[in-house]
Amino acid sequence: MQIGIIGAGHVGLPTGVVLAHMGHQVVALDDDEATVELLNDGVMPFYEPELEDLAHAATRSGRLRFVTDPRELTNSASLVFICVGTPQRVTGEANLIAVERAVETLAKNASSNLVVVEKSTVPTGTARRVEEILRRHNQTVEFKVVCNPEFLREGKAVEDSLNPARILVGSDSREALATMKELYQPLIHQGAQWIETDLQTAELAKHASNAFLALKVSFANALARISELAGADVTKVTAIMEADPRIGAGHLHAGLGFGGSCFPKDLAAFERLSSRLGYGFPILPEIARINEETIEAAFRKVEEALWNLESKTICLWGLSFKPNTDDIRFSPALALARLLLQSGAHVKAYDPRAGEPARAELPDLQLATDPYEAARDSNCAVLCTEWDDLLNLDMKRVHDLMDLPMVLDGRNALDGASLVELGFTYLSMGRAPLRPDGS
Ligand code: UGA
Repeated sequence: MQIGIIGAGHVGLPTGVVLAHMGHQVVALDDDEATVELLNDGVMPFYEPELEDLAHAATRSGRLRFVTDPRELTNSASLVFICVGTPQRVTGEANLIAVERAVETLAKNASSNLVVVEKSTVPTGTARRVEEILRRHNQTVEFKVVCNPEFLREGKAVEDSLNPARILVGSDSREALATMKELYQPLIHQGAQWIETDLQTAELAKHASNAFLALKVSFANALARISELAGADVTKVTAIMEADPRIGAGHLHAGLGFGGSCFPKDLAAFERLSSRLGYGFPILPEIARINEETIEAAFRKVEEALWNLESKTICLWGLSFKPNTDDIRFSPALALARLLLQSGAHVKAYDPRAGEPARAELPDLQLATDPYEAARDSNCAVLCTEWDDLLNLDMKRVHDLMDLPMVLDGRNALDGASLVELGFTYLSMGRAPLRPDGS
């Protein structure tokens, strides 16, 4: 099929690359000339495992091209994915101006019938607006609007795109639904669940899914607080919960809370959408509140352990909002770094990919070239992001480098007992502290 993609970002780029990999002919449009030039030269604008190799293969085969001129897209594509950003307004609402512009561009340039697919996360009701704009600017060609929300995770974008658990497609047009099913046939064939529905249901299902996953994370983090007070171990509590198939495994890992461009922004947008439609949905703001409280709880642990933070040095391992990405948007690590810096502490950090973007946002952050340098002379090391490399450090070496051998395991991902044997004080989230003297 001839596919167009508008927006070569965290959603559009993996989508285009994977569709080209599946054998479709893809033209990806982005209005950032520098990005398009880099992409055509094989340079990815962000880090995502496997993406670069697949993108190279697709561009070499001629199945994937990056362009800035919309006519190159409308001249060939019969199906176009809208993958532009929908950032958060100060009100919490999603800013949909980029969606409106993309749709207007399509309408003004389209000369033959087009299936227009919303892939960006948008509030319910957006597809109706998209239909209006398309009709307003072009009455000669026939447009069919589809909502096909993205469920891929950053850091696993390629893996999730090639092996989706479900493919959700909403449309009022039987013909468009059939086209989408044909597009995804190889993935359906290999086991992805195909779900067809109306536009509003598809739009709402995406918001509902992300909000529920965020709810699970905040539930686990609230459980962490109560586990500490009750003398329980949150990791054991959530493992017991996950053994019940009605609760389900995943997203119950207590730690520093959620970040990224999706959960925080989508929660705020969902809350605004709900109020606008006339229902407060009171649990939504609570999910975000618990998430903020989680960072404060981590900060208090460091403060409690070190007393005054002025002139103390804290090492942060990991800055990205999750492993295998250089994305620092709403990163819990940065939120913690801000609190520590505001209290007068020196913050030395290491991240395999996200160091430079983090320092651009927080110039007071000292960047280390490796995790050991970050730990040198520090009074506490905090594991903020569970990168594989950071889970397998030589902790004896770390112990000898630190001024005070203390670790706060912000992701409950390290082996506390073996750290204590090495002489560390081991703090974690939702579990009692472990100390070498057993106190
Ligand atoms: C999330 C959803 O998982 C995807 O299905 C969705 O497509 C995507 O948003 C989106 O809307 O584009 P993503 O934000 O990339 O994906 O990553 P997640 O793996 O869901 O993690 C989000 C945050 O929650 C991370 O900061 C992670 O560290 C945190 N988290 C996750 C926890 O603290 N505990 C958990 O148990 C799981």
